[in-house]
Amino acid sequence: MEELVLVLDFGSQYSQLIARRVREAGVYCELIPGTTPWETIRARAPRALILSGGPASVYGDGAPLADPAVLTAGIPVLGICYGMQLLAHQLGGRVAGAGKREYGPASVRVDEPSRLFKDLPSTLSVWMSHGDSILEAPAGFRRLAESDNSLIAAMADDAGRFGIAFHPEVIHTPQGREIIRNFLYEVAACRGSWKPAAFIEQATVAIREQVGEGRVLCALSGGVDSAVCATLVHRAVPGQLTCLLVDNGLLRRDERRRVEDVMQRHLRIDLKTVDASDQFLGALQGVIDPEEKRRRIGATFITVFEREAGTLRNVDFLAQGTLYPDVIESTSHDTVNAHRIKTHHNVGGLPADLRFQLVEPLRYLFKDEVRAIGSALGLPDDMVQRQPFPGPGLAVRIIGEVTRDRLETLRAADWIVIDEIKAAGLYRSLWQAFAILTPLQSVGVMGDYRTYGNVVAVRAVQSEDGMTADWARLPYEVLAKISSRVVNEVPGVNRVVYDISSKPPSTIEWE
Ligand code: XMP
Repeated sequence: MEELVLVLDFGSQYSQLIARRVREAGVYCELIPGTTPWETIRARAPRALILSGGPASVYGDGAPLADPAVLTAGIPVLGICYGMQLLAHQLGGRVAGAGKREYGPASVRVDEPSRLFKDLPSTLSVWMSHGDSILEAPAGFRRLAESDNSLIAAMADDAGRFGIAFHPEVIHTPQGREIIRNFLYEVAACRGSWKPAAFIEQATVAIREQVGEGRVLCALSGGVDSAVCATLVHRAVPGQLTCLLVDNGLLRRDERRRVEDVMQRHLRIDLKTVDASDQFLGALQGVIDPEEKRRRIGATFITVFEREAGTLRNVDFLAQGTLYPDVIESTSHDTVNAHRIKTHHNVGGLPADLRFQLVEPLRYLFKDEVRAIGSALGLPDDMVQRQPFPGPGLAVRIIGEVTRDRLETLRAADWIVIDEIKAAGLYRSLWQAFAILTPLQSVGVMGDYRTYGNVVAVRAVQSEDGMTADWARLPYEVLAKISSRVVNEVPGVNRVVYDISSKPPSTIEWE
């Protein structure tokens, strides 16, 4: 990558978001641990560095600090929140508990002109989240902006080092994108060369180099990531790729046909579909515990995959649609002790001891970039813009036992939800919308008869990355249409409820 910005990660929940914002602004960006030695950083020749926020206090025992050489190397630096406090602390200023925690929406007054706030108003709405503040800026630094509590909200020196006490990367700082752009283009003099087309060319060369004459296998899930991954590999080494679609019986209505249609007929990729629904449903018989469902589905997938892969000869490589967030999560220092909420399973979840070498062309990409690349590769919109779907499929949307009958009921309800959401033009503005089959039955009346039927729940959420989410304020008319169609068209369902929980404390899926 000719132009690189590195985020030094000090453990903020927003670190990934910083990297995404930088890339959205057209500059390639990666995350590295905040304590990375200068020699390692220098070897990558970054254009600029961003110091992330973090949960620690810079003066606390064991607080992660930057290698001092990083801060004095003459590279433009933007310290955000903890990153700003770290700049102050390590360069000789004074940081202390502010007495009052600044958290949530706030406004700051910009009182010194600077390249960072170029063309921005003098009062900015921002998002704050910190307990410590800078009581004294280090020598050579000027105060650029002040918070409501008269604390330093932004500072800078003449060497291109900036600190801001708020989070420009979150949507609650409306001018955040401009601030990041100003840092990249006004302060760090970036040119902005990060574009999907450039990525496709580089990935094509890299895949050719890695694979040579070898044969590649790729498991498709119906989702965007595996489809884009397969398409890239197919483009790089035509004729050397075989795709495998494991129909686990837990797919949505029409999903298998659609994948076959696009990949096989449209792109002419060699695709093998295996119907393993009996095996999966057998493994799920009588199981109601969500984690146990996930474990069994994961284990069955591996068994089926290994069996099928064994029947293909001379496969040397396995292509997987692993994305950057998964890479960060599995290598990041602060998630090691994170509490396991759910055992995630997807087609990228194969064990490392399979006999293949991995090809992971998407491992430095975020989801929205994968979508852009999918479009640039000519994949149809309806595949590229698909909402995420969990690896364990409809099994985690059927509360209680998974049976063929209950799957049919859920499929029919789910189809109506998506149909109406699309008809209302809301599909792309939602992170996900779907139906859940609850284990509840309730009394209803149809004609003059009493019914005793299933309760279907509808969930629609808005989210940036699936880590946090809020329930979507769907128009009442859309909800009304969904409800009336579900009870009228889906046999055995007589009641529809709408889930109005946010994540946290709920999760997006019910299991
Ligand atoms: P939760 O329910 O944990 O979901 O709030 C967050 C996002 O992840 C999706 N999800 C999964 N995706 N394998 C996947 O590939 C899984 O096992 C899995 N479980 C949940 C979920 O749909 C949401 O977008």
